[in-house]
Amino acid sequence: MRTQSESRGEPSPLLELSAVSKSFGGVVAIENVDFQLYAGEIHGLVGENGAGKSTSMKIIAGVHSDYEGQMYVQGQPVHFKSAREALAAGIGMVHQELSTCPDLTVAENVFLGQQPLNRFGTIDWAFINHEAKRLIASLGLDIDPTATMGALPVGIQQLVELSRVLFSGARIIILDEPTSALSPPEVKRLFDVLRKIKADGRGIIFISHFLDDVLEISDTITVFRNGHKVATDPTASLTKDDMISNMIGRGSIGMHMGESADLKGDDAKPIVFEAEAISDGKQLRDVSLKLRAGEITGVYGFMGCGQIELARAAFGKIHLHKGRFMLDGQEISFRSTAAAKRHGMAFVPENRSMMLFRTEPIYKNVSIAILDRIHRLLLKPGTERSITKTHIDDLQIKTQGTDMDLGSLSGGNQQKVALAKWLTHLPRVLILSEPTRGMDVGAKEDVIRIVKGLRDRGVAILVLSSEPETILTLADRVTVLRKGVVAKEFNSGTIHKADLLSAA
Ligand SMILES: Nc1ncnc2c1ncn2[C@@H]1O[C@H](COP(=O)(O)OP(=O)(O)OP(=O)(O)O)[C@@H](O)[C@H]1O
Ligand SMILES: [Mg+2]
Repeated sequence: MRTQSESRGEPSPLLELSAVSKSFGGVVAIENVDFQLYAGEIHGLVGENGAGKSTSMKIIAGVHSDYEGQMYVQGQPVHFKSAREALAAGIGMVHQELSTCPDLTVAENVFLGQQPLNRFGTIDWAFINHEAKRLIASLGLDIDPTATMGALPVGIQQLVELSRVLFSGARIIILDEPTSALSPPEVKRLFDVLRKIKADGRGIIFISHFLDDVLEISDTITVFRNGHKVATDPTASLTKDDMISNMIGRGSIGMHMGESADLKGDDAKPIVFEAEAISDGKQLRDVSLKLRAGEITGVYGFMGCGQIELARAAFGKIHLHKGRFMLDGQEISFRSTAAAKRHGMAFVPENRSMMLFRTEPIYKNVSIAILDRIHRLLLKPGTERSITKTHIDDLQIKTQGTDMDLGSLSGGNQQKVALAKWLTHLPRVLILSEPTRGMDVGAKEDVIRIVKGLRDRGVAILVLSSEPETILTLADRVTVLRKGVVAKEFNSGTIHKADLLSAA
């Protein structure tokens, strides 16, 4: 059988989709998508949240087997019924949501489903651990292969998951938002590995909302909008503005988020929450920080700089070696997140899956924050739904309704749900870890609007992020953390992206 490309006299692609469509319960997710990936190509894929990127890739990777249209691998028609079948055909995918097994070790995760046996026919642990360490080291990471996955920071888990697919020998590699939790040096090492894989004649599909990354690493870029493929062009012929206007279907929106910021720290505002010379004996050393009512304090730093530990320590999840936390001038030490919540402290962690229930309807995910206050029996589903409906409209969450399972939302839209929970019941202190991670330009704007709205209603907000744009767009003051130490504080005046990057 001749594929479409062959009948046009072009070289046969490694992978081809021809007129592929997929609906979920009558709602179209992608329609009539044509797509080609060639050997030795890195193909960037961009589009707003909900545009259909992940859905298309899950069809290729065998996750969705119920679709229309035709797919070819090296010219042969295929229709995978499972991810296992796709893997056997040389297709590996790193999913947008971490799909590692938290209870297994790092090495077990790297070799998941393909553990090598020794000559006695049993699993060769010594070999597995040694190999896992070596493979991960090529991504520049020095970690113990016997460590339990779930205990590691999300960024590290992301790198382990990447190693699993990159070194699986797959000829077609799909990376869905692989860099969202990585620091610039880690991204650079990942790109070095990708270039080697490409030189081997394999093909890579690279999905990202970081348009600069896509421009840097890809040879070809495809843009999705509203379930349709709208353009495929050689990267060399594109600018960032071209990509953005293709993504949103109109001229450039002129919002280049946060290249610089005018800080407005106001010492007259009351201090609500304070960290005094916090040390945890490992990641954090003498970290001090003040959160004021009606202000957003940004903490910027590369992954692993200690931000995550700082947030966890504030909620009593990490034992303090030295220092203390103060709330309204009183020393506090919480034993649980629930106890912190009772004192008006809210936390939206970087790993949204930790606090969302993917198989529950959206309205239940939203109302969970108020259920502590209002007894479940008193809160009628009708009320939950109507509260949720308001938030869906306000946050422009793209969904068919409040009763849809959370897992049916695109990645970016799930993140908005995580935030919506706190709008119903205003916290005094809100700690947000990577609030805009994995979101497209439009969704970021929505989140920024919401967070600033909460600030203007008097909430003391801490935003922890390794995206300088997010910090510059949101923060009234910025603290830069470097390797667990406060490297610099900016309280007023104009600061630029370069100031953050050079301080970190
Ligand atoms: N399992 C599912 N059930 C119902 N609808 C779904 C499901 N998966 C995806 N969709 C819908 O299909 C559309 C495309 O979603 P998809 O996840 O492919 O978007 P995306 O481009 O990857 O977005 P993001 O950048 O936010 O990850 C969305 O409207 C989404 O709600
Ligand atoms: Mg997606």
